[in-house]
Amino acid sequence: MKTVHTIKELRSIVAQQRKKGQRIVFVPTMGNLHEGHISLVTEGLTHGDFVITSIFVNPMQFGANEDLDSYPRTLEQDQQKLSQAGNHLVFAPSAKEIYPQGMDNQSKVIVPDITEFHCGASRPGHFTGVSTVVMMLFNMVQPDVAIFGQKDFQQLAVIRKMVKDLFMPIQIIGLPTARDPDGLAKSSRNGYLSEEERAIAPRLSDIINLTGQKIQAGARDFTALSREAESLLLDNQFKPDYFNIVDSETLKPAAQTTESITILAAAYLGDTRLIDNITI
Ligand code: PAJ
Repeated sequence: MKTVHTIKELRSIVAQQRKKGQRIVFVPTMGNLHEGHISLVTEGLTHGDFVITSIFVNPMQFGANEDLDSYPRTLEQDQQKLSQAGNHLVFAPSAKEIYPQGMDNQSKVIVPDITEFHCGASRPGHFTGVSTVVMMLFNMVQPDVAIFGQKDFQQLAVIRKMVKDLFMPIQIIGLPTARDPDGLAKSSRNGYLSEEERAIAPRLSDIINLTGQKIQAGARDFTALSREAESLLLDNQFKPDYFNIVDSETLKPAAQTTESITILAAAYLGDTRLIDNITI
């Protein structure tokens, strides 16, 4: 498995594979790979001939007071895991390679509406950073298929909307969240948790599941259910950011008639912001 750091090298390899008629699959990541990321690569292998994984901690999607500097960078371990999984090429560019003129003067992709609530409300500019870098990476890799995780449910919806609105000829596949045995959604940010916090962390998914069970049993006062869940989170040492019960398609508040409901939640445990969701 090869690793390239420049767009030029990437394009030359992609051109060679295309000449051979290969179908290109792309898995964008920020590295520090865990089983969730690897599951995207493994599934990717079934959708094409040549799987490219990018590793780029994208400064544009981090807020001023967020964890850009402390975000774990573990390229060697990531390369090992990707090679074992059967990934074909790693694209690991520097920030200078992606933003040669800096970020201020960089054209951006703005996806309206769907980015304005949930994580978009708490992290202004975050989704513009995501859609912009994903568009740039798509233009560099020009994949037939791109694979994302449902762990970042709103991000997946934003990418789907961008691809649809801008008529980008790329098939987007969303895959289920990989979890630790106790239910905690795997995340690069779990490494920030202290031992004590790690023991409490799975309660976020427990509380989401409990709410899901209540809805399945017929509960329909979504505002009351959200408040109950937030107060349970507080009782369990979390600082809830949001706990929203939404329509899985629009990500707007669920109505009595909503067919597919998703529960989206974000909460701080100490300084670590965890997100999780389930679709009922
Ligand atoms: P990152 O957080 O590294 O995630 C890369 C991909 O892995 C995303 O599609 C994410 O949803 C998926 N993923 C993360 N945890 C997962 C889990 N537990 N189970 C299944 N899939 C999981 O998301 C980003 O990077 C960035 O925003 C990016 C799209 C690369 C743009 O910079």
